[in-house]
This record gives sequence, structure tokens and C-alpha cells, in this order.
Amino acid sequence: MCGIVAYLGGRPAASVVMEGLRRVAYRGYDSAGVAVASEAGAPLEWLKRAGKISVLEEALERTPLAGYLALGHTRWATHGRPDDVNAHPHVSEDGRLALVHNGIIENYLPLRERLRASGHHFRSQTDSEVVLHLIEEAFQGDLAAALRAALAQVRGSYAVVVAHTDSAEVVAARHTSPLVVGHGDGEQWLASDVTALLPFTRHVTHLQDGDVVVLGRGGVRLTDLQGREVERPRELVDWDAETAEKDGYEHFMLKEIAEQPSVVRRALAGRITDDASDAELGLSLEPHAIDRVIVTAAGTASYAGGVGAALIESLARVPASVEVASEMRYRDPVIDARTLVIAVSQSGETVDTLAATREARRRGARTLAVLNVKGSTLSREVDDVLYLRAGPEVGVASTKAYMAMLTVLTLLAIRMGRATGSLDDTLAKRLLDGLVALPQALESALASRERIRDLAPHLAGARSALYLGRGVNVSTAFEGALKLKEISYVHAEAYPMGEMKHGPIALIEPDVPVVAIATDAERYDKTTSSLQELRARDGFVIAIASEGDDEIEAHASEVVFVPRVDELLSPMVNVVPLQLLAYESAVALGRDVDQPRNLAKSVTVE
Ligand code: AGP
Repeated sequence: MCGIVAYLGGRPAASVVMEGLRRVAYRGYDSAGVAVASEAGAPLEWLKRAGKISVLEEALERTPLAGYLALGHTRWATHGRPDDVNAHPHVSEDGRLALVHNGIIENYLPLRERLRASGHHFRSQTDSEVVLHLIEEAFQGDLAAALRAALAQVRGSYAVVVAHTDSAEVVAARHTSPLVVGHGDGEQWLASDVTALLPFTRHVTHLQDGDVVVLGRGGVRLTDLQGREVERPRELVDWDAETAEKDGYEHFMLKEIAEQPSVVRRALAGRITDDASDAELGLSLEPHAIDRVIVTAAGTASYAGGVGAALIESLARVPASVEVASEMRYRDPVIDARTLVIAVSQSGETVDTLAATREARRRGARTLAVLNVKGSTLSREVDDVLYLRAGPEVGVASTKAYMAMLTVLTLLAIRMGRATGSLDDTLAKRLLDGLVALPQALESALASRERIRDLAPHLAGARSALYLGRGVNVSTAFEGALKLKEISYVHAEAYPMGEMKHGPIALIEPDVPVVAIATDAERYDKTTSSLQELRARDGFVIAIASEGDDEIEAHASEVVFVPRVDELLSPMVNVVPLQLLAYESAVALGRDVDQPRNLAKSVTVE
């Protein structure tokens, strides 16, 4: 996934594009570049650098680029190392044509072979450069026609933006990867998402798959891939992309972990009935019309989905499961009008989750998104949306959005349980009271940071780590393991606790610590037996246990206590020490906590 920004108009084009790129850097940050046209017919000027956008900014300070038209790109490498050569824009040898691309050209190899055989010289190892050469091959003065001819030969996903100095236009097309037009007075923009446009314009047009757009002195023209005129609505953006500041925290991630109590309060606000006996979500859910729920998501969102599915099945007595979106979309799932598909996503741009949701809709499912970013692609492709209200999450490793997902999914499970009649008044009130009290419990869990910093070396120095949980906390174990992996680069695996003895226990050694979630009172004896099996083999066990548990210390090497809450709500409290363990381990290892290597905040390619 990459971020694209383009501009055509009277402002200094390079600085406009750089301002936009900074706002889409969450989409990828392993290299960046900008190409600028200053006058018709003159070669484009361009700069591109490996590394974050700040590296490109320094290069531009030394070598300013002036012009009325610019294309910019911030990359998450799919094909070809993240270096200066593979960075976008890709520019033709004569310097007259430039291209930026977000997506994957799946049939780039045969196309590149054919183009090479006909004399084209490739400079990069990327799939994207193939499109540049296809346009060069087709260009006879009409850039849009050349782009359409090129795209007729490619298979895959793209948001592609091109400029040619002979045409003084910017031409773009999209298929699967998002692209938005910004409208101004005698000036226009293109960007991967609306947030890059908000400093300049609120008048936008979301391109759809198959659209081709031409930005030129005469304004914006839209066609399909066959060149036929297309109409798309102009929308007025009525929200502000909340900018996030670190506010004195060393990392955005730490700030976002600390924000979680207030995030829960915001997610709950106005969503509980006055008598606290039910959730109020504004959904016209007819649970009797639903005989199955599938929660689909990716990464951390899928672990929140795992908790949500468990709660829905437990409270609403409707069969519910979580499916990783990248698998669900291809497995020919049995989905129909009686299936509720819940897509969970912080960004609303994760291409796997979008594709799974589209597949569900195609099969007739009712679709609901639990998502954070307003105006995101997902928000426009489902029947209903429940917003997380978590505010902008800048840290690539998701924390507060995860907490908000758990909050909203718990409310949804309660609502569904009340609607099917399977959740009685007493339990509903107990859970809702517990949710209202949860921010206090999170504050208390956050207070264990010092204790956790002392334990971090066990994980920072580990060869690998195991995370174990039971029931609703199996997903918590998976989320804790992912946090450690993605920011400290220490390998970790999660298992249902009962699975240890079926193989993974062979891994137990002093440098393979085990983090075990031990808050499940109902199966406490089973948990302590599992811990004893580990300790009997010299396993180092860090237990996450409920305050007041005075037995656990006999079964674990170290214990981190969290406030005792209803087990169904415990994933929200138990994840806090796991987030802090990952954070402190990453800091101890000197990692780039907010922008870990190889990652991006939103994965918009398959
Ligand atoms: C979580 O820390 C990761 N950043 C990643 O797993 C993320 O949760 C996943 O890519 C899904 O993103 P989304 O919530 O924006 O769809």
C-alpha cells in the first residue's frame, strides 16, 4: 500500500504535494518521491529517496523543484527493495512522462519481458514501471487514451497517476486501490484519501473502479476505460481529519495506550439506554432474520473480531465466527441474506477486508462495519456503520482502536442478545455497568507500567515467546503476541492454553518465556495445571491475573495483576499489560515504535 498525491494549478506544486504526502505517510513509509512539471514540453524534474518522507524533504530543501504540476508518492514496497531506484515516481528516459502507482500489477513479468524484447529499458525491479512503458508505447499525444490502452493490458490493482509534459494534464485511473479527486477554483488534486486534500479543499469526488479522470486547465473530465463519459457526484467533506500530536509522550503508541480509558468512554457515549438495561446503536437489526454472524477483518482487528464473535454467540445465541478477510474472500463461503457480516477495520482501507465485504455483499449478506475513519472506502460500502470514535491512531501498532473495537463489539453483542431475548435483564445490566466502570479499571491497569518495564527484558532478550489464553482471551493472547512481534521484532506465538500439551510445550526453554492470561475464574484449576506443566519444565511464566488472586504466585515466575472484571469484559483489561510489555520491550531494543520496519498503518494491497 502506498500514498499518492498529485496537484495541478497555480500554487507551488511540489510543496502542495509534500503537505499531502505527510498526511498519507501512514500508508507506507519506506521511500518517497516527487516529480514536477514547470513548463509544457520541458522534461519533468524529480527527486526520490529511500527512507521516510523527511529524507525527501531534506533533499528538496537542497534542490527545490518549482512547477505548476506535481505527482508525489510514499511507498510500501511490494516488488523491489525500498531504495532510491524503486521509489516512485517512475520517469521515462526522456524525462517527459512520470507515473506513480498504488497496487499490484499481477501480470507484470510477461509484460516486462515483451517490452524488453521490443527495446524498452527498465531501471527498477518494480511491477509499477511496466505501466510507464506501456503508456510510452501507446502515447500519440492523448495521455488518457494511452493510459486506457496500457490498462487494457494489465491485471491487478491500481491507483495510477501519470503526467506528460506535452499534455500539461494529469491523468489517473483506479481499480481496487482508492483515489479521490479534489476540486478547486482553477486547480485540482488527486490523493489516496481525503485527509491529504483537507488543507486545500473540501469538494471531492471518490473515483470508482474503472474510472479514468483527466485534470487539466479546463477542469476535471471523467470517463470509463472505454473512453465513455462518466458522472460521479461531488461531495462536500463535513468533518475534520483530527490531527494528532504526541502531547509530550515519547511515542504516539504510548500516548494511544494511555488514551484508552477516554476512548472507551467516547465509544460508550450515547450508546446505553437510560435504565442501563440495553445498548442503543441506531441499528435496524432484525436478529430473527439473522441465523449466522461472520466477523471479518485483518491483523489486530481480526483479534478484536474473535472476541466479538465469542461474545455474540455467548450472549445472543446466534452462531458467530471470525474469519481472516484474506482467506474468507477466496474460500467460497456459505453466505446469504440471513448472514450478518461484520467488517472490523480501523482504517476502512484494508484491501483484504474490503474485498471480503464486497464478496459478502455479492452473496446477499447484510453488512455492518465497525470502523474508525470517517469517509473511508469501507464506510461507503456497507449497510450500516458503527464508528469507533477513537480519534486518529498514528502508531502503526494498533492499541486504542483495538480497545474501541472491543467496546463497540461488546455493545453489539449485548444489543443482539437483548433483541433475540437470550440475554436477560440481570446479565445485561451487569455487563453494561461493567463497561461503564471499565475506564477506571483501565486506568488501574495502566498504572502497572513500571512493573512491566522491569519484566520487559525477559521478552526483549527472548529467542521467542509464547502467549496463552482461554475462552474470550485466546484472541487476547494472539493480540499480545502480534504486538510484541510487530514493534520489537521478537518472534512470538499464541495458542489456546489447552493446546500447549499437544506439541508447543516442546518449545519450553528458559529463553522462551510464556505470557499466560489467568483471569478465567471458571477454569482457574485448568489454568494452574497448565502453568504447572510449564514450570515443571523450567518454563519462565509471566501470568496476567486478577487482583485478589492469592494462589497465582505459586504457579508463575512473575505475576502482573489487573483489576478483576467480568470475564466476558476481561479482554479489554488483560490486553493493557500485553500492550505495555510489547512497548517496553521495543523501547529496550531501540526499535522505531511508531513506524516499525516493513509495516504500514493501512494495508491497501493484497
Ligand atoms: C495491528 O497493530 C497492525 N497494524 C495490523 O494488524 C492492523 O490491525 C491490520 O492491518 C488491520 O488494519 P485495519 O484495522 O485498518 O483494517
